[in-house]
Amino acid sequence: MSRAARFAERTARLRASTIREMLKVTQQPDVISFGGGLPAPELFPTTEIADATRDVMNEYGAAALQYSVTEGISEMREWVAARLSRRFDRSFSADGIVIVNGSQQGLDLIGKIYIDPGDHVVLENPSYLGAIQAFDAYQARYLTVETDDGGMIPESLERVLATADPFPKFVYLVPNFQNPTGRTLAAQRREPIVRICERFDLPIVEDDPYGELRFDGHDLPPLVSYASQATILYLGTGSKIMAPGLRVAWLLIGHEDVLEKIVLAKQGADLHSGSLAQYVFHRYASRTDAFEAHVGRIVETYRRRRDVMARALHQALPRGTHFVRPEGGMFLWVRTPGIDTADLLRVSAERKVVFVPGASFYPAHDVHDGMRLNFSNASEEMIEVGIERLGLAIRACPPAGGS
Ligand SMILES: Cc1ncc(COP(=O)(O)O)c(C=O)c1O
Repeated sequence: MSRAARFAERTARLRASTIREMLKVTQQPDVISFGGGLPAPELFPTTEIADATRDVMNEYGAAALQYSVTEGISEMREWVAARLSRRFDRSFSADGIVIVNGSQQGLDLIGKIYIDPGDHVVLENPSYLGAIQAFDAYQARYLTVETDDGGMIPESLERVLATADPFPKFVYLVPNFQNPTGRTLAAQRREPIVRICERFDLPIVEDDPYGELRFDGHDLPPLVSYASQATILYLGTGSKIMAPGLRVAWLLIGHEDVLEKIVLAKQGADLHSGSLAQYVFHRYASRTDAFEAHVGRIVETYRRRRDVMARALHQALPRGTHFVRPEGGMFLWVRTPGIDTADLLRVSAERKVVFVPGASFYPAHDVHDGMRLNFSNASEEMIEVGIERLGLAIRACPPAGGS
């Protein structure tokens, strides 16, 4: 073996993700992709960001291009603290905020400070693939909690924790419009989950990139809003409400020692997140009326796309398949009992429509009939055409194990 390929043991589980591989196929112009998790690019506030960049350069000049503090610029941390305090009806201090390079970096840093090889992490089943990838790099093992249309089931969490050996380092969950299923953790399960974790002294990683993209119903209190002794690391991001290319996201941590470790881990990773992106994000987001109107446009557009996709699926899906209509977010989850969606992807790609097969979202890769459909990126017309193609592909796909 070439010495260049003598990698550290922790790289053994690093594999190209199905999603990234598939995004390559979808570069072809005639393929309709429900695969990536991309926001609608036509909604990016390009003019406003250009204006904000000019304003920042005029006002801060070289300071916006200089090295900066690891925690993030104070303006951005104050903005996050104020927004979370308003949304969650609880007072949060900017001192507890660290600006990270996408919430994906937050997940990596959490893995870095908590996970030794072989440590357990508790996950929903299925769970966000990017989190599994981040924790895989630290050689985590997973304990999964039973999950239904109301998200993680508290009694199952309790059972898992009561028998876990070694005891897990933390539980990771996406409570709102989860990636991949679009499910939301039911209101009546939220406090019980916090109390169970409090009782077992288990840190909670609450990843909430989609919470602001609610189309129906009312916002539910995040886990971090409960007065509790539980240590909660809350992750939010600008990726879905402004633009993912800025890589501006935030970690809210109430526990001082945990915060300090995260800051030290981030120092080693990148010293700090890009200052210019933070200044620009802050400048635009501080124009409150314009920014709220912008978030409102995203919600309206995605709600219509969700509706079009749900209607099209009702018409196109054969009997026996079913889907969950999410109340927000960017994803819709379909089950095709008896059909392996990895096989289906091959059939559907020939018909020029792609999605993400579900198996990779299950830590044990043991469920093969799920698929994740993204509805934020394609136009309403494309969604209609794509779902019709998908319905035909499902009818044409041989059942799993069949000849
Ligand atoms: C559940 C979840 N967490 C984290 C991320 C990463 O987001 P960011 O762009 O903030 O790194 C995503 C992106 O799709 C996601 O779905």
